[in-house]
Amino acid sequence: KILILDFGSQVTQLIARRVREAHVYCEVHPCDVTDDWVRQYAADGALKGVILSGSHASVYEVDDKAPPAVFELGVPVLGICYGMQTMAQQLGGQVEGGHTREFGYAEVRARGHTALLKGIEDFHTPEGHGMLKVWMSHGDKVTALPPGFKLMASTDACPIAGMADEARRFYGVQFHPEVTHTVQGRALLERFVLDICGARPDWVMRDHIEEAVQKIREQVGDEEVILGLSGGVDSSVAAALIHRAIGDQLTCVFVDHGLLRLHEGDMVMDMFAGKLHAKVVRVDAADLFLGKLAGVNDPEAKRKIIGGLFVDVFKAEAGKLTASGASKNGATWLAQGTIYPDVIESGGAKSKKAVVIKSHHNVGGLPEQLGLKLLEPLRDLFKDEVRELGVALGLPHDMVYRHPFPGPGLGVRILGEVKKEYADLLRRADAIFIEELRSTIEPHSGKTWYDLTSQAFTVFLPVKSVGVMGDGRTYDYVVALRAVQTSDFMTADWAELPYALLKRVSGRIINEVRGINRVTYDVSSKPPATIEWE
Ligand code: XMP
Repeated sequence: KILILDFGSQVTQLIARRVREAHVYCEVHPCDVTDDWVRQYAADGALKGVILSGSHASVYEVDDKAPPAVFELGVPVLGICYGMQTMAQQLGGQVEGGHTREFGYAEVRARGHTALLKGIEDFHTPEGHGMLKVWMSHGDKVTALPPGFKLMASTDACPIAGMADEARRFYGVQFHPEVTHTVQGRALLERFVLDICGARPDWVMRDHIEEAVQKIREQVGDEEVILGLSGGVDSSVAAALIHRAIGDQLTCVFVDHGLLRLHEGDMVMDMFAGKLHAKVVRVDAADLFLGKLAGVNDPEAKRKIIGGLFVDVFKAEAGKLTASGASKNGATWLAQGTIYPDVIESGGAKSKKAVVIKSHHNVGGLPEQLGLKLLEPLRDLFKDEVRELGVALGLPHDMVYRHPFPGPGLGVRILGEVKKEYADLLRRADAIFIEELRSTIEPHSGKTWYDLTSQAFTVFLPVKSVGVMGDGRTYDYVVALRAVQTSDFMTADWAELPYALLKRVSGRIINEVRGINRVTYDVSSKPPATIEWE
């Protein structure tokens, strides 16, 4: 196994992820573990190497150091960014506060023919130097190598951008190999963990299930857990994992707010209660939600109502299941499908860097209000790892690889006032659109258009237009189809769906959904439009 010591960089979990991608087991622990802890950790001989992460801080602002024992274990150590700087400082080199901040793309010249970089390069200079395209983010830099080290890489701004003591197998890189902008980053980390550390590449997601199950059992003991199941990927995978670990000690609460997609509620119940035999309480709150939404037109007001009611309904239901509620031996844990990007976004990473980008958790503060402990088994995983885990747990591929669906659901896809009649029409139209996307294959890639789009849905426009059907004139509603391609949902392009596909969808919606007589396709990119219409 590989030990990653976290000095508080936002990208520490990316290191872990790259190590897992090399099929090597790793654990992330805070940098301030003690020497005794480190020796204990390494005692069984399974530890093959240590990686010291970057930090948001400067070696002059904080005095975080690697536990000295790390350098005495006889295993390879790789320091990244701050990790390299503290390694240099602790082993007798020198670090200086840089006056030149280097941030972003850089080209690094590989030097010294080290085992770490040998043969790993992006291009050659005319003089024949091997060069790497990397991502840098630092203010300080190493200015004197520690005894025993040689120069491994350099840039103009940073003459010591990499260092190596090959006898002790200690390496430091100033750039970040864990981010994808460093083209050879993955190769470099693989080289380190597989070749230099000699870790065995035998870890698979299936093993993660065993580890996670074990951890959940230890954490929870014989206590009870409740989980808000939304049908989305994260809560579904969390539910399946926790159910695998503790079976009937888990109760899922599924709040149906009446703004879900066609048959969604039944599908969730069928999967979790039916196939997995999990305990699921289904709360049918459609009337409550629709009642409170009557007469409300403003998108943000609708969001507030839906979010607020959701918490109220969930709290009421959860309250019945907790120890302080009706049953004496009730739940003492609240489980959430928080994944690593959520942790970073809400500034709650274990690392000390607390830059709040957005605080968006619908259920923030809920555990305290309910007097429950928080169980978050997916906290260290990235979205695609969560999906992989879901598949390994036996969840259907289609469920795990679904497009994201907003919490307020169809509430923000019906423009203006939400009515049951509108929701029913929209659900049917949307189901047709999704069905056609799923069944239409793009010949070049061999993938379906559903897989080729990041998010696709139908929007209900509460306006009527004139049409003609058979011998009669119609005066019915309009829907808009929306399909976008994006990697981060911050910017997005509308998808160039084939005309034949659009034609089929439009034809089917108008013929099969009485009440809709016109279909449009949204050709706006984000920005300036948003993905959702509200
Ligand atoms: P926009 O419309 O802002 O959407 O371009 C970006 C992504 O965020 C989703 N979204 C939401 N998700 N609650 C959610 O859980 C919301 O209120 C909400 N609004 C937008 C949207 O579906 C897209 O994936």
